Amino acid sequence: MTGAVVSIAQQKGGAGKTTLAIQLATAWLAQGKRVAMLDIDPQGSLTAWHGLRQARLGEQADGLRVQSLSGWRLGNEVPALRRAFDHVLIDSPPHAETDAKTAIRQADLVLLPCQPNALDLWATEPTLSFALDNKTAALLVLNRVPARSRAAEAILAEIKAKGWPLAKARLGNRQAFAASISEGRGIAELAPASPAGQEIAALAKEIARKLR
Ligand SMILES: Nc1ncnc2c1ncn2[C@@H]1O[C@H](COP(=O)(O)OP(=O)(O)OP(=O)(O)O)[C@@H](O)[C@H]1O
Ligand SMILES: [Mg+2]
Repeated sequence: MTGAVVSIAQQKGGAGKTTLAIQLATAWLAQGKRVAMLDIDPQGSLTAWHGLRQARLGEQADGLRVQSLSGWRLGNEVPALRRAFDHVLIDSPPHAETDAKTAIRQADLVLLPCQPNALDLWATEPTLSFALDNKTAALLVLNRVPARSRAAEAILAEIKAKGWPLAKARLGNRQAFAASISEGRGIAELAPASPAGQEIAALAKEIARKLR
């Protein structure tokens, strides 16, 4: 049994790639899974989060490994990680087509975080098309969804009309996601019963089911 590789890709900056990577990884960790994360974004946000996490928690083995590397090296690293971990999550940079494509080629599943507005939706199309042309399963994940918003409902209807694959679980616009990250943790570790905690648990479950 080898681990599944999930790449998070979306050319639009700030769509929520790193947030989704961290929150999913820590949700799986909280369920006792072994998780590896690869940060191929030169911004290094994921690596910075991990540095803070290690400083706070110490080097205690929590089943999580985070490695920063250049996108072109993914092919060398991913096979061994697949063998050693249940889930391998790749966080990719915005505006970097070549690296995003490399991450997609390595993946069993591509997640595309998308905020419910037209600009995010338009930016999603090239990445989604590349994944589907590459015969890689893909799933849009609506992120920062406002509690009640006609505009968000209209975007949702548009996604459905296009027939794009969309996760049932969505993430709301919740400060708790950012706050847990600023502590080197994930919401599944700090407040699993909170609304944010329940949202990420539902998404982690939905994705794990898809990977089976
Ligand atoms: N569901 C959410 N609720 C509240 N804030 C969020 C949510 N998702 C992301 N954010 C905030 O949006 C900003 C951008 O998120 P993030 O860094 O995860 O996006 P990104 O796609 O990784 O960005 P980049 O393209 O620069 O790598 C951050 O300030 C983050 O805290
Ligand atoms: Mg990022």
